[in-house]
Amino acid sequence: MSSSSSGKKKMRKIFLVNGPNLNLLGTREPDVYGSITLRQIEQMLKGEARKRGVKIAFYQSNHEGSIIDVIQRLPAKGFSGLIINPGAFTHYSYAIRDAIKATGLPTVEVHLSDIMKREEFRKTSVTREVCIDQVKGLGPQGYVKAIEILLTSQ
Ligand code: DQA
Repeated sequence: MSSSSSGKKKMRKIFLVNGPNLNLLGTREPDVYGSITLRQIEQMLKGEARKRGVKIAFYQSNHEGSIIDVIQRLPAKGFSGLIINPGAFTHYSYAIRDAIKATGLPTVEVHLSDIMKREEFRKTSVTREVCIDQVKGLGPQGYVKAIEILLTSQ
């Protein structure tokens, strides 16, 4: 039965990837990244996703190859959207950029801080171009905004 004939909205599954050093949120440079832990952010996002009738799953890794392996598997696992904070990989990982493009999934790049207002090297994002949008400088709320962007993108 199609989703429209059942009268139910199609359940979408979103995947959130956080890259290197984001496991340290809460204690890492709290003046820049805040004092909320990644676990707390994920709990908050679970609720925000549920409110919007969408499922969300999470992954964090400090390893480029592991992130690529996980991204590659998303379409086969039924995910229909990707949110990624690639951390410092944002600024130089063409491999993650290629993995995002290869999935064909609508992807939103998120940064807790405003990367345009920090060091020069952070102003370049090699992943931005393969994403439908970039959210920066909103702290953890940026991930909520990314969910909303994905939900209105289709
Ligand atoms: C970050 C910004 C990056 O420049 C940095 O390397 C990070 C976090 C952010 O969320 O603001 O690890 O992606």
